[in-house]
Amino acid sequence: MVPRSTSEVAPTFTPAAGDNPVPRHVAIIMDGNGRWASARGLPRAEGHRRGVEALRRTVRAAGELGIEVLTIFSFSAENWSRPAAEITELMGLLRRFIRNDLAELHGAGVRVRVIGERNGLDPDIRRLLEEAEELTRDNARITLVVAFNYGARQEIARAARRVAEAVARGEIAPEAITAELIATKLDLADLPDPDLIIRTSGEQRLSNFLLWQAAYSELVFVPIFWPDFDRVALENALAEYRRRERRFGGLVARTGS
Ligand code: FPP
Repeated sequence: MVPRSTSEVAPTFTPAAGDNPVPRHVAIIMDGNGRWASARGLPRAEGHRRGVEALRRTVRAAGELGIEVLTIFSFSAENWSRPAAEITELMGLLRRFIRNDLAELHGAGVRVRVIGERNGLDPDIRRLLEEAEELTRDNARITLVVAFNYGARQEIARAARRVAEAVARGEIAPEAITAELIATKLDLADLPDPDLIIRTSGEQRLSNFLLWQAAYSELVFVPIFWPDFDRVALENALAEYRRRERRFGGLVARTGS
């Protein structure tokens, strides 16, 4: 099916299911590193390391496939409850990912954005995240949003606090608080909502990921562990997305954000 942009669609045209173009924004819950490793008798850390390789493949494929924004869930606000050694491993992987891959990402036109709570992260990690954002801020090929120490409820609470502060300063009236206003205070305010959220490993839940922005996202659950994810798996998920009929609460199918 040839992708069709909304601008080419006559106002009375009702696209059938199967007409969705390439999603502008794909978000991924990269799940199953530990199970991938256990199934092979390997330490969980090896699963995370292979997960970084899958991430590299996926960023490359997403750029080639014309996806504008790729958001990845790399460390959740709830992951602090894991054993200290595993947290240390995940922090080390983030450090190495930025140190080793930043130049290549920059060269490939990737703009890096980081969402989540920076407080509570080691100062050197905060500096690396800032450096990655600063170096790549003008790149335009694809935006890679790294959700790190991220939780959607916490993000919504931060937005609510910003709104409350503006009300307290007398800048906005309580009656002026709308969903649109709250959306402007979220971490991803300037980016389109995810059209497609993929979760690997067969689990079928959002786990506190992008709860606000996922209101009309299509969800695709892939029965493979994250270290096995590759371009073919991404293309299969995009094919599934293309077949979905998106109505955004209305009666007429629409072709995305
Ligand atoms: C889920 O697998 C994965 C994570 C908690 C972390 C995802 C991290 C990576 C892919 C590598 C790190 C990348 C960066 C940029 C830091 P799991 O451990 O929950 O697997 P399980 O459910 O099988 O135990």
